[in-house]
Amino acid sequence: MQWQELLFTQGFGTRRICAGLIQQGLVRAGGQTLTDATADVEPTEGMAYQVAGVDWAYHAPAYLMLHKPAGYECSQRPGAWPSIYTLLPGPLRQRPGRNATPGVQAIGRLDQDTTGLLLLSDDGAFIHRMSSPKKLVPKLYQVTTADPVTPQQVQRLLAGVVLDDSPRPVRAAACEATGTHTLDLTLTEGKYHQVKRMLAAVGNRVTALHRARIGALALPADLAPGQWRWLTAEDLQALSAAAPAQEPLRA
Ligand code: URA
Repeated sequence: MQWQELLFTQGFGTRRICAGLIQQGLVRAGGQTLTDATADVEPTEGMAYQVAGVDWAYHAPAYLMLHKPAGYECSQRPGAWPSIYTLLPGPLRQRPGRNATPGVQAIGRLDQDTTGLLLLSDDGAFIHRMSSPKKLVPKLYQVTTADPVTPQQVQRLLAGVVLDDSPRPVRAAACEATGTHTLDLTLTEGKYHQVKRMLAAVGNRVTALHRARIGALALPADLAPGQWRWLTAEDLQALSAAAPAQEPLRA
């Protein structure tokens, strides 16, 4: 691969712009300033380089996590709130698509007011594996409610509740009260507003919602709201180890 092509795949602009970055002496790798945009490079995962003084690491497919803050929409074209994509640096937003996948995208959506762990990628197979309801990847939500959580509510969430868009009941793969007005709820699917609608179906109301874990991958305590980072090999392993939690309920 040529250096200008490497920069192109990593989202630094058209091949012409990438060649220009190198010709202007703005790209460094291996302790040297590059001068030849057509020089060959055999990139390895995580290979370090600098563009305009900023450190980057080469990643063929992009696998990221973001600590989604409240007040952001998971849409490329948001309505009333800013997009989560504005929290990513330009090159991550501009990476060209890979195969049929159009650039880096959020895997599933969290509501504007929901916080917590959000995965992003441009690897279509990975996106499918993480988001397909058939794959039963468990997602742990920490829920705060308006009214006290009762044992009956927990029992009904575990047994299954019918929402307004389908006769098929949806149930929590796991659910336990963690305080008078808080509960941990694990889901293996991701219907629109599912947690909020499930709590409404048992007569309560969600006042705050935080996604703490996907599969065996927990949101790291040191990743502040609004911050992102690359997924490590260990993170990816924790996600692929995500065991099916249960068979889905039939109507
Ligand atoms: N369920 C919801 O109701 N909202 C979310 O953001 C995620 C799950």
